[in-house]
Amino acid sequence: CGIIGRVGDGNALEPLLTGLENLEYRGYDSAGIAVQNGAGIDVQKRSGKVDELRESIGDTVLEGEVGIGHTRWSTHGPPTDENAHPHTDETKDVAVVHNGIIENYAELKSELSDYGHTFTSDTDTEVIPHLIQFYLDEGMDNEAAFRRAIDELEGSYAVTAMLSGEHVLYAARQGSPLVVGIEDGEYFLASDVPAFLEYTDSVVYLEDGDVVIVDDDGVEYTDLEGNPVTREPETVEWDPEQAGKGEYDHFMLKEIYEQPTALAQALEGRIDPENGRIALENFEPGTFADISSVQFVACGTSYHAALYGSLALKQAGVQSTALLANEYSVSAPPIGDDTLVVAVTQSGETADTLNAMRHAKAEGASTVTVTNVVGSTAAREADEALFIRAGPEIGVAATKTFSSQAVMLTLLGQRIAADLQGEVPANLESLLPELEAMPDSLEALLEQSDAEAIAERYENSQSYFFIGRGLGFPVALEGALKFKEITYEHAEGFASGELKHGPLALVTPDTPVFAVFNGVEDEKTLKNAEEAQTRGAPVVAVCPDGHRAVDIADAHLAIPETEPDLAGLLANVQLQLVSYYAADLLDRPIDKPRNLAKSVTVE
Ligand code: G6P
Repeated sequence: CGIIGRVGDGNALEPLLTGLENLEYRGYDSAGIAVQNGAGIDVQKRSGKVDELRESIGDTVLEGEVGIGHTRWSTHGPPTDENAHPHTDETKDVAVVHNGIIENYAELKSELSDYGHTFTSDTDTEVIPHLIQFYLDEGMDNEAAFRRAIDELEGSYAVTAMLSGEHVLYAARQGSPLVVGIEDGEYFLASDVPAFLEYTDSVVYLEDGDVVIVDDDGVEYTDLEGNPVTREPETVEWDPEQAGKGEYDHFMLKEIYEQPTALAQALEGRIDPENGRIALENFEPGTFADISSVQFVACGTSYHAALYGSLALKQAGVQSTALLANEYSVSAPPIGDDTLVVAVTQSGETADTLNAMRHAKAEGASTVTVTNVVGSTAAREADEALFIRAGPEIGVAATKTFSSQAVMLTLLGQRIAADLQGEVPANLESLLPELEAMPDSLEALLEQSDAEAIAERYENSQSYFFIGRGLGFPVALEGALKFKEITYEHAEGFASGELKHGPLALVTPDTPVFAVFNGVEDEKTLKNAEEAQTRGAPVVAVCPDGHRAVDIADAHLAIPETEPDLAGLLANVQLQLVSYYAADLLDRPIDKPRNLAKSVTVE
């Protein structure tokens, strides 16, 4: 999602619409703006693109020197006109745009409803203007009401609010980016610098806990209680063209680096700190008690996430299998009303996956989709949807959505196992802290990866092989798929033990073998890697420092120590980086590989 806000002389309409256009690269499904027009707040919002918004505003006199705008990427409720931002209270005295997730919105909504507030959208955001209005009704002034409302919010947010009758914007940041742009007599608030780069390159990056008040005279930086904080402007040196990708050369690299945030969002509110249980919003404990087997259906990278989820579930003692969605109609195992079918699809629009889910439904199965897109066909057609909240993914080769899907499926698997076995799975106690540490572990990995050097070292090889065992196997498959998708070089993934049953015939000094270790039967995997090494193939071990494989391998990609159930996900990020740098050396069009589409809506 994208936020823009503007205070200054002259009409705010054009800077707001330009800001929204500049934020389009982030992906969105609806857009809207609100301006102060002297007679209250005027809001224009709709599902669809910014140019449709521009067109629908047309010649309407929409004037005001202060305004806010938003591009929404649905997380609560489908992309409808009502769910688009800005949101207002009933009196339309307060308008708010918001990025992030308000975890306690359901409680707030029900309390406010008890006080007679009525809501018109499905969003979590709508509680914010109502809360501000509630405190205004209590007699607080505008600033106090804003601060008090922010204080009530749990979760992550970048919020910008405008109250009628004054030339002021209020904003707060907690866990979701927000920046201030400063030009002579004109001030901007935005989720991301590109929003206002045509107007100014002087930027203040806000920090978590900051509350700012922006008016014609400048910007006041405070904490939530109102104590002043010091924030210094910096000059950014990007040109507007480059800025969509931020400091990155490609969306793929940007999205690889977004994975710590994506995983934090996937986990947010889903682990109950009170009892250490997995709390999945739409599934009461016991939901899965009558399921006898679980079938995962998916394609491409999502299939590898599905395989990961299915293997983890099997290890937890639940009968489960992952199937290619395009093979499902001819090869599905028996389906009954005690079968749970989990359709894994980041876009929610892949025809093969939708058809598999429809087939399962027709046979009586219950269906859940694990997807990134609220309002997608899969989300609408499945009995229940679990959203991975990875944020828009623009690179055709999926990266962050794979990691988020795998984490989401791990959470779901734990819940299914707990329901079926009537008790919390034995490994959950050790798994939970490691799951919660995943964003930090990934951050550490991304800070010092040798992937670029490894890509250079093995440039011009004939083929690239990837091996792994257990949960390392889907990672090997995904490592190879990523490599072939964006480098156009030949790459294959194998179960470690299969190498000697055929592929070993292809092994030469020109075929590096990437071996994924996850702490389960690593000795066997190492033996398999050595079998290739004996035939001249260089071995790249993907494992923690200090692992025995490091001494034997020709090269090493380090991952932080973690649980066996999660090690493969860290290894996968190293392999994503190797593919990225290998493709970059070959000068491939990394974000849009030839012949591939982000979402394939035909069978
Ligand atoms: C296409 C993309 C793949 C993706 C697959 C499944 O083939 O090129 O990267 O993994 O579709 O997409 P989905 O949206 O269902 O996850």
